[in-house]
Amino acid sequence: MNTTKTVTPEELVQRHARPGMSLLAVLHAIQDETGFVPPEAVGPLAKAMNLSRAEVHGVITYYHHFRTQPAARVTVQLCRAEACRSMGTEALAKHIESRTGCRFDADHSHTDTVGLESVYCLGQCALSPAMMVNDTLHARVTPQKFDAILAAATQRVEETV
Ligand code: FES
Repeated sequence: MNTTKTVTPEELVQRHARPGMSLLAVLHAIQDETGFVPPEAVGPLAKAMNLSRAEVHGVITYYHHFRTQPAARVTVQLCRAEACRSMGTEALAKHIESRTGCRFDADHSHTDTVGLESVYCLGQCALSPAMMVNDTLHARVTPQKFDAILAAATQRVEETV
């Protein structure tokens, strides 16, 4: 959830880094609050967690889940793990790229209308292919269903601008 008040990276780290917490838990908490993990938070995080900056940076970049900049206005997270692949995710990914004119896992900015991200299992394997669009889960997604989901999500975003 994005906040309306500007919070410094140091404040973010102070707010979320608690003794005994794992780095992953702190990163999740920060991203839940701000929508991404600001690169400026790496230094304060390293200090608070008694890790090197390289270790913190390595974890942030290893996990696809973590963003280092705000998400696009409509963020499509398509599951590309095994169960979904066996049910046509890759063909669906091609349709989505063609439909949106965007590429999966390319750099995008929060000013972009659509951002496409690959994720690996959304816990909906029996209902694959699965995706999240702006934190709403969708299952058994077909190209036609995706077009309707995208149209609805884009309309919701435009209504809030
Ligand atoms: S493999 Fe796609 S939801 Fe589990």
